[in-house]
Amino acid sequence: MSESLDPSTRLRRLRATAGIRTMLTEISVEPRQLIQPIFVTESENLEPIPSLPGINRIPLSQLAAKCHELLKLGIHGIAPFPKIDESKKSADGVEAHSSNNLALRAIREVKQKCPEMVIFADIALDPYTTHGHDGILNSTKTDVDNDKTVAALVKMSVLTAQAGADFVAPSDMMDGRINAIRKGLDENGLTQTGILAYSAKFASAYYGPFRDAVGSTRKSGESLSKATYQINPANRRESIREAHLDDFEGADILMVKPAGIYLDIIRDVRESSALPIAAYQVSGEYAQIHAAAEKGWLNLKTTRDESLLAIRRAGADLILTYFAEAFAKDRQ
Ligand code: PBG
Repeated sequence: MSESLDPSTRLRRLRATAGIRTMLTEISVEPRQLIQPIFVTESENLEPIPSLPGINRIPLSQLAAKCHELLKLGIHGIAPFPKIDESKKSADGVEAHSSNNLALRAIREVKQKCPEMVIFADIALDPYTTHGHDGILNSTKTDVDNDKTVAALVKMSVLTAQAGADFVAPSDMMDGRINAIRKGLDENGLTQTGILAYSAKFASAYYGPFRDAVGSTRKSGESLSKATYQINPANRRESIREAHLDDFEGADILMVKPAGIYLDIIRDVRESSALPIAAYQVSGEYAQIHAAAEKGWLNLKTTRDESLLAIRRAGADLILTYFAEAFAKDRQ
């Protein structure tokens, strides 16, 4: 018996057996809380994305089958992103408004063949612009023009909702877009279409693999700065202001992005709004875990599960994650 050590409180009592540890687990990650991002291609074949191991761009013809599989696994939501052919891109991204574009066809396909799937459709111009920015450039081509871009996003949102999306998800970070989109939807009788607002979206270096996946990476390889619209990673209070505004402007769900390296922001937003909170575990977060696992430096599944748990613990109700399907499969 130790003479110097006599703690009356021994926390290890509550960790002593698998039974008590299970009983006292505070939070969990369930497939129903996950949303699978899905890249859609015009081509007839699955296209692997080297920087996102295990994730393929999916042809339209295989989309419904994928959605049925996900539903069986307990995943009820997808976030589709189109990879637009280079020939259809332009400086102002008008392909976003073409009624038969890939994104709209994908939404119609899913709603027709797998209507139970909840679709969160991204609203931003980057898949459609030659420069890769989320909006339309100003006359000097030095920055994204806020108000012109908002007008384009409203039009895109109405088309997207008419195609059958359950939620439009503006990821552009323009000022005033939630209010404008809500008005546009309501004026077109789309009062039941929700808005998942990318409220606190940071100008992050972790979006690289996503830009490869949708083909918005610059050909020169130089990284594209979105610092005049996405939040400075150094700033915490700004994300609370963004969340308040989006809540006030009529968003139904608020989102923080990236997730795992912005857990403090998830907690802040959770505490500053009563709306449901989503967090986007972005492509770079997924790629990091996979790369380390490939080298044998981290265990893929336990690291994955812990990364998702941390995001839930920070306060996220929903998580967009490329791990959704694999996580749910391992649960079966
Ligand atoms: C663009 C958009 C981006 C992501 C989702 N929507 C990239 C960007 O802002 O450049 C990133 C998602 C990811 O990295 O997984 N509107």
